[in-house]
Amino acid sequence: MKIAMIGTGYVGLVSGVCFSDFGHNVVCVDNNPDKISKLKNGEVPIFEPGLEDLMLRNVKAGRLHFSDDLKTNVANADAVFIAVGTPTRRGDGHADLTYVYAVAEEVAKAISGYTVVVTKSTVPVGTNREVERIIRQLNPDADFDIASNPEFLREGAAIDDFMRPDRVVVGANSEKAQKVIRDVYRPLFLREYPIVMMDLESAELTKYASNAFLATKITFINEMASLCERVGADIKLVAKGMGLDGRIGNKFLHAGPGFGGSCFPKDTSALARIGQEHSVPMQITETVIKVNEETKRRMVLKIEDLCGGSFNGKTIAVLGATFKPDTDDMRDAPSLTIIPAMIGNGASVRVVDPQGAHEGKALLPGVEWMESAYTACENADAIVILTEWNEFRALDLERLAKVMAKPNMADLRNIYSAKEVLDAGFENYVSVGR
Ligand SMILES: NC(=O)c1ccc[n+]([C@@H]2O[C@H](COP(=O)([O-])OP(=O)(O)OC[C@H]3O[C@@H](n4cnc5c(N)ncnc54)[C@H](O)[C@@H]3O)[C@@H](O)[C@H]2O)c1
Repeated sequence: MKIAMIGTGYVGLVSGVCFSDFGHNVVCVDNNPDKISKLKNGEVPIFEPGLEDLMLRNVKAGRLHFSDDLKTNVANADAVFIAVGTPTRRGDGHADLTYVYAVAEEVAKAISGYTVVVTKSTVPVGTNREVERIIRQLNPDADFDIASNPEFLREGAAIDDFMRPDRVVVGANSEKAQKVIRDVYRPLFLREYPIVMMDLESAELTKYASNAFLATKITFINEMASLCERVGADIKLVAKGMGLDGRIGNKFLHAGPGFGGSCFPKDTSALARIGQEHSVPMQITETVIKVNEETKRRMVLKIEDLCGGSFNGKTIAVLGATFKPDTDDMRDAPSLTIIPAMIGNGASVRVVDPQGAHEGKALLPGVEWMESAYTACENADAIVILTEWNEFRALDLERLAKVMAKPNMADLRNIYSAKEVLDAGFENYVSVGR
């Protein structure tokens, strides 16, 4: 099977590498020349555990290639995957489909022989039909089918998610296209991972429904955490008690500073728009978006309280800037709301993040980036744990408390207990929902 993967970001690169590991011949195409030249030199432009080894292995085996030539590689392909970005459109919160449609136009001109054009990007209902229309209009003789194959991988665990998925969702209206996709996913099919075939619209909506549901679960527990703080309950215990119920499950029940990242914020926003456009307001999702914004603001107030009611003149050490550990992705991270609010109110902020500085430097002006939590805490008035990287889970708390001007901790991921932090010499400890 010859595959062209158009767009070599988090999803395109991981998918392309994994498809090549399945034994297919894959070319990853991108219109960013820097990215392609790095990849050709064996460099992975993003941080994703395990990706580099798998990529180099498949390049060596001659199954994986990188190119900026969409035309030739689409012409040679049996299946073309579109994996470009669908960010939030400025102004109205909808998914920006400019990149998807631009690729559809290029693909239309390049198709040769029977080809299945598969959308892997997260796209609103109706987008696949529009991609089909564009290709048909520009190249009426093209022999092709359309399929939707939304991706569910998580950054930080992307390879494992791709190789051992809970399910693969495929929307395809023709049997011929279904067969091609089955062949693409043959190794997973043989190992009996569920491959769920459906129509295009259902596949498109399954992705948004899944992300909105997970965002709702996180937001629910964050709101419950707020109530815990008022009534003297402990959200960790509440979540444990809830999560053991098999109907609820224990995943996505960790209270924190609000969800962020490359998917949940933009996908909840796009789903809200889809609902409005079809006169079926997504009221739950709209509320989730609102409560999530409030959650992030609540964190700012929590830190301000910890600093004695004012950020002015305070030095704050922030541990973690990426939206979650094991990724360098800074898109819509809570840090992008919380840190500017502290700086805007007069704080000096130092940030330590194992992978976030590369992207974060441009996104967080006025921040001092540091290598170690211990140097960042020297003479600081508070330490704020924003992202639960492993290296922040076992800090020498006594050493930290000693070097700080005011040993105060805001643990916004609930990784420590009040007792251990206070016993180590901290004066104040706040967390979320406890
Ligand atoms: N990041 C995730 O964890 C994740 C998970 C599931 C689904 N998704 C979805 O997958 C899609 C891609 O997300 P991502 O995070 O990989 O995006 P990304 O921004 O990391 O990568 C997109 C890539 O597409 C390239 N590109 C844009 N236009 C192009 C063109 N005309 N020709 C060739 N290349 C082009 C860009 O240069 C970039 O490298 C989005 O719709 C997203 O919602 C993302």
